[in-house]
Amino acid sequence: MLIMGLESSCDETAVAIVKDSQNINKRIVSNVIFSQIDEHQPFGGVVPEIAARSHLEHFDNLINQAIETAGVSLDQIDGIAATGGPGLIGGVIVGVMYGKSIASAKKKPFFAVNHLEGHALTVRLCDNVNFPYLLLLVSGGHCQLLIAEGIGQYKRLGTTLDDALGESYDKCAKMLGLGYPGGPIVEKFAKNGDGARYSFPRPMLGRKECNFSFSGLKTAVRRQIEKIGPDQLNNQVIADICASFERAVGDVLLDRCQNALNQFKKYYRGQVTLVIAGGVAANNALRIRLNDLKVRENIILKIPPADLCTDNAAMIAWAGIEYARIGKSNALDFKPRPRWPLDPDASKAIGAGIKA
Ligand code: KG4
Ligand code: ZN
Repeated sequence: MLIMGLESSCDETAVAIVKDSQNINKRIVSNVIFSQIDEHQPFGGVVPEIAARSHLEHFDNLINQAIETAGVSLDQIDGIAATGGPGLIGGVIVGVMYGKSIASAKKKPFFAVNHLEGHALTVRLCDNVNFPYLLLLVSGGHCQLLIAEGIGQYKRLGTTLDDALGESYDKCAKMLGLGYPGGPIVEKFAKNGDGARYSFPRPMLGRKECNFSFSGLKTAVRRQIEKIGPDQLNNQVIADICASFERAVGDVLLDRCQNALNQFKKYYRGQVTLVIAGGVAANNALRIRLNDLKVRENIILKIPPADLCTDNAAMIAWAGIEYARIGKSNALDFKPRPRWPLDPDASKAIGAGIKA
């Protein structure tokens, strides 16, 4: 079975063809991506209207590229999966319309994939991981701890009450004048910095729950930058701020994951697998920090390769395969969803808004 995946929920236009192969290394047949970063860079963040138009401009070409690289024709594709939400709705509409059109013209099943579930299942694309697993989902739009119980079955243990983690990285970078997206740049600076130089708050640390809050940390970074003043903001100071920020983030993640682990153990016995997914999971320093938890708690830690943590279409195609395996596809009247929680039954988290 070959499934084509289309991703367009934010600022990456991506197309992939993935095979339902037993051999993990043979699954991704093609995986192409156009990053719109240059188009949004002057604005310091993603402009939804520009993103939607750019997806429209690039999909034709990327679909052709994906097919050519895979060495197949559209007729050989067994189904089309497209991100159906959550995300910037203009972009999601573009991807869904492409997906439905191809599915309709070729009379193949259509899969509307929850982008968050794409991230959640990536670890099963690149590794043999069975349900249930504990999932830390950290991206530009979300920061959640969940139990992945099965396809389409997630129990949310915690979410952010304000900013998502990737968003905090992006804002930190913006305040330091480092450009967009902030995560990789902050990580790069942090490598050469002293994480003990500035003592930033660790929001919610020690609280016996799994929710997150990052706005206080962001404010502390802003105040520190103001205190230092623009004249003194040299590369070493920037590196020290980034390292101190990243250390605070690491402390918070470890603390929250420990709580989530304790909760997970109340539901399930046996060896625990912790999976980290989403763009921020590409961060090597945080991967190393979370490895401490793995060693301390004797758990299995699985993190997809960095290029499959950030947005891509292979994860969307793979989610399509997971749904095809259980015989579930979507009708062509599927409506794109700006908001699409993984756990619709989770209680309301005040302030989380669409990040819930
Ligand atoms: O999953 P993703 O590509 O898109 C969303 O679904 O949001 O995540 C993008 C986010 C951005 O905020 C970006 O700054 C962050 O992930 N990110 C990182 C790193 N690479 C990407 N954050 C920290 N360290 C990184 N290396
Ligand atoms: Zn994403």
